[in-house]
Amino acid sequence: MKSILLTGTAGFIGSNFAPYFLEKYPQYNVINLDLLTYAGTLENLKECEGNPRYKFIKGDICNRELVEFIFNEYDIQGVIHFAAESHVDNSIKNPGVFVQTNVTGTFTLIDVAQKYWMKKPFEYKEEYKGCRFHHISTDEVYGTLNETDFFTEETPYAPNSPYSASKAGSDMIVRSYQETYGLNTVITNCSNNYGPKQHDEKLIPTIIRKALAGESIPIYGDGKNIRDWLYVLDHCKGIDIVYHTGKQGNVYNIGGRNERTNLQIVDAITTILDEKVPHANKSYKELITFVEDRAGHDRRYAIDATKLETKLGWKADENFESGIVKTIEWYLQKYENT
Ligand SMILES: NC(=O)c1ccc[n+]([C@@H]2O[C@H](COP(=O)([O-])OP(=O)(O)OC[C@H]3O[C@@H](n4cnc5c(N)ncnc54)[C@H](O)[C@@H]3O)[C@@H](O)[C@H]2O)c1
Repeated sequence: MKSILLTGTAGFIGSNFAPYFLEKYPQYNVINLDLLTYAGTLENLKECEGNPRYKFIKGDICNRELVEFIFNEYDIQGVIHFAAESHVDNSIKNPGVFVQTNVTGTFTLIDVAQKYWMKKPFEYKEEYKGCRFHHISTDEVYGTLNETDFFTEETPYAPNSPYSASKAGSDMIVRSYQETYGLNTVITNCSNNYGPKQHDEKLIPTIIRKALAGESIPIYGDGKNIRDWLYVLDHCKGIDIVYHTGKQGNVYNIGGRNERTNLQIVDAITTILDEKVPHANKSYKELITFVEDRAGHDRRYAIDATKLETKLGWKADENFESGIVKTIEWYLQKYENT
């Protein structure tokens, strides 16, 4: 039985991934390392509790001693690295922790993995041959787009926020371990995710929560910034495919070809809420309020996922219309129970 280290699984994407992975692969022990910052909660991992192949460890990916202990204690034979500071607005207010967690944390993890698995550059220890480090990254490293282009794996990096710059830095560290040491790495750069378990601070949960509370729904600037939205379980399936079948040293973009402006997002959600939980003959749309734009707000992100689709056979199962209904149903339950 192999032990795989997953980091950051008390957060949004990791906590969707961990139960999916545990159920699909009975041959893995899954060790979860998460600091439980404001962004992570064990509530998100309730489905995994009690599973004998699931172990949770509270701790910091920057803590080298702890990471070394985990590799030795559990004989880690693969890493899927989600842990990060992830909210752009926070990175504008407090960039230092983004550099610490996203850059130093990724360095610490990959350096421990390389030393644990390899004898010397380009030579794995016999028992660790093939052990892989999968780094989870974002399309934000590519910067912002005009109205027609798409991000491909060849798009030059041009990060614009401290968040995306710190993720770009972590991607470069992973790349260097591939090139310098021959460590088996893959990187996935994904577009905006939505779905269950996302932190309240992010756009879609904010829209739903504010609407239900009858509070104004804040939309940045003119609301015309475009993001390419992917249902979180489709991201998890893409990660699984790349982890198991992606080519060593490769980068794969993951995206659902579901571009929407923020105005389209708020419109879709309020339309569904108007049907599902009508509110005193008023539309939730009346709560939409434009607020001062985010500093350095990227205008458009859009992913070309052709490589992942054609080389590894991944395809998104949800489109935005189907995924957003599932998402709203999940948050309705959450907010009605709090
Ligand atoms: N959410 C998106 O739309 C999106 C899109 C593309 C890529 N990503 C990437 O996916 C990954 C997961 O994103 P998310 O949205 O789930 O983030 P999140 O903020 O919801 O969760 C991050 C998790 O990491 C943990 N963490 C933070 N600092 C840590 C540290 N020093 N040591 C250990 N754990 C720590 C937090 O406690 C939290 O549980 C990130 O690397 C992010 O950059 C996210």
